[in-house]
Amino acid sequence: MKLILCGKGGCGKSTISALLARAYEARGYQVLVIDSDESNFGLHKQLGLELPEDFTHYFGHKKGIFADGAADVFEPGWHLSDIPADYQSADGGVRLMAIGKIADAGEGCACPMGALTKTLLEHLVLGEKEVVIVDTEAGVEHFGRGVDRFADAILMVADPSYESIQLAGKISDMGKTFGKPVYIVLNKVDAQQREMMEEAIRNRDSIIAALPPDSEILMAGLKGEKLTKSLPEIEEIIDRVR
Ligand SMILES: Nc1ncnc2c1ncn2[C@@H]1O[C@H](COP(=O)(O)OP(=O)(O)OP(=O)(O)O)[C@@H](O)[C@H]1O
Ligand SMILES: [Mg+2]
Repeated sequence: MKLILCGKGGCGKSTISALLARAYEARGYQVLVIDSDESNFGLHKQLGLELPEDFTHYFGHKKGIFADGAADVFEPGWHLSDIPADYQSADGGVRLMAIGKIADAGEGCACPMGALTKTLLEHLVLGEKEVVIVDTEAGVEHFGRGVDRFADAILMVADPSYESIQLAGKISDMGKTFGKPVYIVLNKVDAQQREMMEEAIRNRDSIIAALPPDSEILMAGLKGEKLTKSLPEIEEIIDRVR
């Protein structure tokens, strides 16, 4: 199964990606986490892993991705075991790839990274007990690039904000365009905010879990520490998505 995590900036995409990865691992899955955020550096810390070398470098940096034949590298499909060792870091049943980070001022846009994420996702061939979790950059650009077309399901993380409520409607529509189910995970919501979100979100049937604000998660995020917590809400997400 291929899952894409999305939502507005700071809503908790990376946190929930890391928590989900460890929860799937505990259920005996082989997990590939794809860090497709070209700006932020927190996810590998939340997973307790080294940041792997940018996968764009495998193609000779960003421009190489558009070179003739670059996409042929993935034919006839990649299994998890085909991912080059130099471009992943792993621990237990969880491995992490990083598509690429913007390193230098003036280096150009992140479109090649989006194209690479899309091509990789399209060509990954998964077994029954394998799952891919794509942590995206904030916003909906990946929808515009068509990355989500190659997911099996889209998990939108929504924090208690007007923007998240608006985005929930938009992402549900975009998911429909690609024929993909969209599930909404409320994050950092207390009981009152949860109720307000449930009332305001047009497609409230898509809400599958609600995580409260959690000081342990916040402190781990502040210190850049591995997230080890197991949470019933995360188990609920896995059960509902299955
Ligand atoms: N349930 C929670 N309780 C408390 N803090 C949380 C919770 N979920 C996430 N956070 C904190 O909120 C902040 C943003 O989380 P995170 O980095 O996962 O968001 P993001 O959506 O990936 O952000 P970005 O858009 O920048 O990539 C972090 O400091 C994280 O520790
Ligand atoms: Mg993030």
